[in-house]
Amino acid sequence: MSLNERHAPAPTRRMLTCAALIALACAASAPAWSATGALSTTVHPALWPRVQWPLPESPRLQQRIAAIIARMTVPEKVGQIIQADIDFVTPEQVAKYHLGSILTGADSGPDKNPIATAQQWLRLADRYQAAALQGSGIPLLFGADCVHGAQKIVGATLYPQNIALGATRDPALVEKIEAATAEEMRTVGFNWAFAPGVMVPQNDRWGRVYEGFSQDPALVARMARAAVLGFQGTPGTPDFLDARHVAATAKHFLGDGSTTDGIDEGDAEVSERDLIRVADAGYPPAIAAGVQAIMVSYSSWNGVKMSANRALLTDVLKRRMDFGGFLISDWDAVRQLPGCVGAACPKAIDAGIDMAMEPNNWRAFYTNTLREVEKGSIPMQRLDHAVARILAVKLRMGLFTQGLPSQQPLGGKFDLIGSAAHRALARQAVRESLVLLKNAHHLLPLKPGQRVLVAGPGADSLPLQNGGWTLTWQGTGTNNADFPGATSIWAGIRQAVAAAGGTAELSVEGRYTRKPDVAIVVYGEKPYAEYLGDRPNLEFEPRDGATLRLLRRLRQAGIPVVSIFLTGRPLWVNREINASNAFVVAWLPGSEGEGVADVLFRKPDGGIAFDFRGKLPAAWPINAVDQPGLDGPHALFPYGYGLNDADNGDLRTLPTASGIEPGAIAVAGR
Ligand code: GLC
Repeated sequence: MSLNERHAPAPTRRMLTCAALIALACAASAPAWSATGALSTTVHPALWPRVQWPLPESPRLQQRIAAIIARMTVPEKVGQIIQADIDFVTPEQVAKYHLGSILTGADSGPDKNPIATAQQWLRLADRYQAAALQGSGIPLLFGADCVHGAQKIVGATLYPQNIALGATRDPALVEKIEAATAEEMRTVGFNWAFAPGVMVPQNDRWGRVYEGFSQDPALVARMARAAVLGFQGTPGTPDFLDARHVAATAKHFLGDGSTTDGIDEGDAEVSERDLIRVADAGYPPAIAAGVQAIMVSYSSWNGVKMSANRALLTDVLKRRMDFGGFLISDWDAVRQLPGCVGAACPKAIDAGIDMAMEPNNWRAFYTNTLREVEKGSIPMQRLDHAVARILAVKLRMGLFTQGLPSQQPLGGKFDLIGSAAHRALARQAVRESLVLLKNAHHLLPLKPGQRVLVAGPGADSLPLQNGGWTLTWQGTGTNNADFPGATSIWAGIRQAVAAAGGTAELSVEGRYTRKPDVAIVVYGEKPYAEYLGDRPNLEFEPRDGATLRLLRRLRQAGIPVVSIFLTGRPLWVNREINASNAFVVAWLPGSEGEGVADVLFRKPDGGIAFDFRGKLPAAWPINAVDQPGLDGPHALFPYGYGLNDADNGDLRTLPTASGIEPGAIAVAGR
């Protein structure tokens, strides 16, 4: 029995060609809309891109997998396809129920504390891995959301969030960043990253825009490949999936960024062609780079939940696109499927999900899935295929011979965490990600040897400059002390100004003793993650917001104002731009805030150290209600816009009508 069901059952190539031609003929004429007027859910695999999985089916690997499976009991096979969260499972239970994987949820951690040191993480990882090896003898995959650095570890290097990396247009930089992230992960025993997010956000109201690289499918495709190669290494080279790398996860398949109104976990009501052209853009390059896992989206396509969409998960992803890794469901996602009360879900396994992320419901899922297998509603062949895909990843990574995390090459090498080299890389990424939208009379770059006031809630706030998925799920409940080694934007400015003999002072409220020559005001979105970040419209702050009052007060005092906008997405800020002499989008820059000062200020000798390079990874909205498209409508600044120091940065006064109807009831995304 081939343990690899990737290839369609045995039709001849000629039959496949004929089938493809027929499908293409049908699909070309197939209306995107069915007779009922609903968007069609029919899938035509022949329309989807063909991809070449880069890992040849090695007979030796297949033999090793078959030998392991032959020795496994049915309970061991069922346990292998279940992932539990460390806050809800003990090492002893991992052994008893033969679980194949654990994860740390974004709010989980050693002794249920998400804010944990490297030492605490490594001790935990050792305990769980030891239990797994003493139990089934099959090593665990330990997954974590390291989506902008190894963000679960106190002191880790935190890189700009993906939207900022999209603004750099620098895939080589992204590859280095993820390789550095993988190293910091392996020092504490994480061997699987739930990253990169390869969503292609189409609506800025969505709470996960910042997890995507861009609104542009082509840019996402380039970045997806680079990120996977960074996390995993290059297939066919000695360092591929070695002990300095981790398994990567392209997520979330499919259409998470295409839902109507940007509703998180909502419905992507789009044609099959648009699903291919936009949402699927990152998957072919990720698969071609050998991505070992793909996470299935909570969302639906035209009303069908992705977690139960066999046509897309198996016929398209595993067969047509030749994906040879394994599919994992999202957190409790199978519980959302009709008929799956979360205590088992044959239809999800049948659809193609190979591992179920059942963080706190894992035991019921185990018991009931075992029963479904014994009843035959999950065929043993399907179970074996799922187990085979998971074992293949563990064998490729050499986990069977690597012992405990602390015994592995990077285990305990904590000097890698927040290392000078990694922080320099993050600082470079900050510099390359800044997008200059306005620079009246060439105010920037600033002379450093002057009197500078730094104001605003984001000036000296590591939580605000990092955003969600930072130590905690929402990026809240933390303060600067939780980020040892990190630098706030204020600290970077103070350093640059002092080095040039200038004077810098910090006042969040913008108060000053002596009138400054210039004010730098840092403000933006408060941290959020997932559906809690969904918005009813794109207005950053109401008309009489605190930020606007601060900006206007400084301008009325005759002080030139530089706005540094911290945001996970394009937002409507016409009023704030009007109140600023210069306006810089800093996105969510991470732990190395001094990268902002590197670009804002000239060198002490008056030269320019670093010019602005960042280009918008998405179109910027002209009002608060119309989502701008890549091709321009409703865009104040188009996709790809970004000034440098030499450009004429003067800007007309922008319209201040938000477009939000008076009294409009804000219909939140959820
Ligand atoms: C979340 C997210 C997913 C993440 C997973 C584990 O709900 O949708 O991106 O990897 O749970 O934290």
